[in-house]
Amino acid sequence: MNISISTTFNAILFLSAACMSNISFANDMGEEPLDDPVAHGEEAHKNHCYKCHSDDVYTRDNRFVKSIDALSQQVVRCKEGSNVPWFDEDADAVVQFLNKKYYRF
Ligand code: HEC
Repeated sequence: MNISISTTFNAILFLSAACMSNISFANDMGEEPLDDPVAHGEEAHKNHCYKCHSDDVYTRDNRFVKSIDALSQQVVRCKEGSNVPWFDEDADAVVQFLNKKYYRF
C-alpha cells in the first residue's frame, strides 16, 4: 500500500469512527440506518446539535429559516461552524428530521 492510499484509508477510518459509527455499523449496533433518514437525522442531531442551542431556536416566533433551502444551508453552516463530522447524507437526514418535526415546509 503506498503512502497516499494508506493516508486516505486512515482518514476514512477516522471519519467513520468519529461519525458515530452509524454508517457501517448501523444494523449491528441497533442504531437507525440511513434508509430511515428521519430517524437517522434525529439520532445525529441529538449527538451533535445541542452544544449551542436547544430545539427552541426551531420553534421561536422570529426563527429565520423560512424555506427548505434555507434550512439545508443553515444546517450546513452550523455543522461547519462546529466541526461536526457528518457526510452529506447525515446533514440531509438532519434536514429531513428538522423539517418533519418542526418546520414542515
Ligand atoms: C457552534 C454553535 C452551534 C452549534 C454546535 C449548532 N448551532 Fe445551530 N445555530 C447557532 C447559532 C448561533 C444560531 C443562530 C441563533 C440565533 O440567531 O439566535 C443557530 C441557528 C440554527 C438554526 C436556525 C433556527 C431558525 O431561526 O430557524 C438551525 C436550523 C440550526 N441552528 C441547526 C443546527 C443543527 C442541525 C446543528 C447540529 C449540526 C446545530 N445547529 C449546531 C449555533 C450553533
